Amino acid sequence: MNNQADSLRLIVKQMKNSLHAQINRTKKGTRVITISSGKGGVGKSNLSLNLALALTDFKQKVILLDADMGLANIDVILGLTPLYNLAHVMVGEKNITDIITEGPHGLKIIPGGSGMQELANLKEWELENFLTKLSKIEGITDYLLIDTGAGLSKTVLSFALAADELIVVTTSEPTAITDAYGLIKTLCRQDYLGKIYIVVNRVSSPKEAAIVFNKLKIAVNRFLKHNIDFLGYVVEDAKVGQAVQDQKAFIIEYPHATASHNLYSIAAKITDQEDKLQQNNGLKAFFSKVYQYFR
Ligand SMILES: Nc1ncnc2c1ncn2[C@@H]1O[C@H](COP(=O)(O)OP(=O)(O)OP(=O)(O)O)[C@@H](O)[C@H]1O
Ligand SMILES: [Mg+2]
Repeated sequence: MNNQADSLRLIVKQMKNSLHAQINRTKKGTRVITISSGKGGVGKSNLSLNLALALTDFKQKVILLDADMGLANIDVILGLTPLYNLAHVMVGEKNITDIITEGPHGLKIIPGGSGMQELANLKEWELENFLTKLSKIEGITDYLLIDTGAGLSKTVLSFALAADELIVVTTSEPTAITDAYGLIKTLCRQDYLGKIYIVVNRVSSPKEAAIVFNKLKIAVNRFLKHNIDFLGYVVEDAKVGQAVQDQKAFIIEYPHATASHNLYSIAAKITDQEDKLQQNNGLKAFFSKVYQYFR
């Protein structure tokens, strides 16, 4: 994707496809996609937010769950200060719809807060109530994107293992690649059967991204017997840092920046996967799985 015309053509094509995707998804339920990484600071939160916004531009309904408990990344990137978070839903003080924060372009954001820590302490009936409340968002969204922290914490692994689709973000730094492999290895050891996509961030060229992906793919195929798919790359782009400084999403502030074009390509690949996906078991089943892995 090198120029603006290509980008516009892609958007028009996606608009046409989105109706088809919409009809299909009504049958299939909300797509849950977790975004994780082995190493910290590789660009998960920026990818999650801008991918969510690119999907809303493709007329998809998206909720972004900020599951990086404690650090509240998405809030900071957008300069939002939500009053309530998942923990308030968990203890029964709020309904899920009360804690949804309206982001730009119709994007909805659920702040995780300290949610997961409290999850372990719920009684059986409280958990059932909580899961029922969470599953209410099934009807209002096509996608649930989950931005997690980095590494192998219980929270990260629970959200990754429970999702049907996982995006692992890495840069081309050797430590980031090694840690991405470490994350994938941990998931495979726990019998993760879902799809694993790779996004290579902060590259200087598409070739650099391809080299990183191939290194990972060879190792994952050979030693873990799992497949991974290349979802795309994002170039090193000063506009990303600038938007973070201004607490704005770069895809909105700088829609013609190369990083924004990269994000539209990634979003297009995500929607193109639609037909290949099996029917999923719904959000209640997803969150039950998160809980099982977490305890
Ligand atoms: N493509 C890019 N080009 C330039 N800078 C980038 C790019 N992607 C990310 N950055 C920079 O890296 C910083 C970290 O990004 P981000 O907060 O998204 O990472 P993260 O993986 O979510 O971190 P954490 O592990 O702490 O949650 C951003 O503030 C931004 O300045
Ligand atoms: Mg983050």
